[in-house]
Amino acid sequence: MLAWIMHENQQGYDVIAMASSERNVVGLDLSEAAIAKAKKLAASSANANSTTFIVDNFFTWQPNEPFDLIFDYTFFCAIDLKTRPTWASRMAELLKPDGELLILMFPGNSLRNLERFSRGNFVHFSLYLRV
Ligand SMILES: C[S@@+](CC[C@H](N)C(=O)[O-])C[C@H]1O[C@@H](n2cnc3c(N)ncnc32)[C@H](O)[C@@H]1O
Repeated sequence: MLAWIMHENQQGYDVIAMASSERNVVGLDLSEAAIAKAKKLAASSANANSTTFIVDNFFTWQPNEPFDLIFDYTFFCAIDLKTRPTWASRMAELLKPDGELLILMFPGNSLRNLERFSRGNFVHFSLYLRV
C-alpha cells in the first residue's frame, strides 16, 4: 500500500495515478475539503476500488497495517521545523521494515528555494533516518 498527503488544489491526482488492480493507495489529509474533492475525482477513475481517502492527522493516525511505500509530496517541507523529528519517527512507524519512503521536496526553481527546501532537508533526513 501507498500513502500520500494531498492538498485541496491537488485533488488526489497522484493517488489515482498510482492505484492499480495490484496496488491499493491511501490518500491522507487533515483537510475535509481536499479529501472530498479527491473522492469525487477518484469515483470516475478506472481504479477507484484501489483508492482510499482518509481525513486524519498524520501524527496520530493508526492505519490497520504498515505501508510498503509512503510518498510525501511537500508535506515534510510544509510542517514546522520543530516537528521534523516527530515526522521521522512517525514515518518509521508507518512503514514496513523494508518499506520505502519517497519524498518530493518543494519543487522550487531558484537556488534560494533549493537551498532552503531541498539540500538542507536531505541533511535532516539522513540524520533522522539513522535514529
Ligand atoms: C503543502 S500541502 C501538500 C501539497 C500537495 N501534495 C499538493 O501537491 O498540492 C501540505 C498538506 O498537508 C496537509 N496537512 C498538514 N498537516 C497535516 C497533518 N498533521 N496530517 C495530515 N495532513 C496534514 C495539509 O492539509 C495540506 O493539504
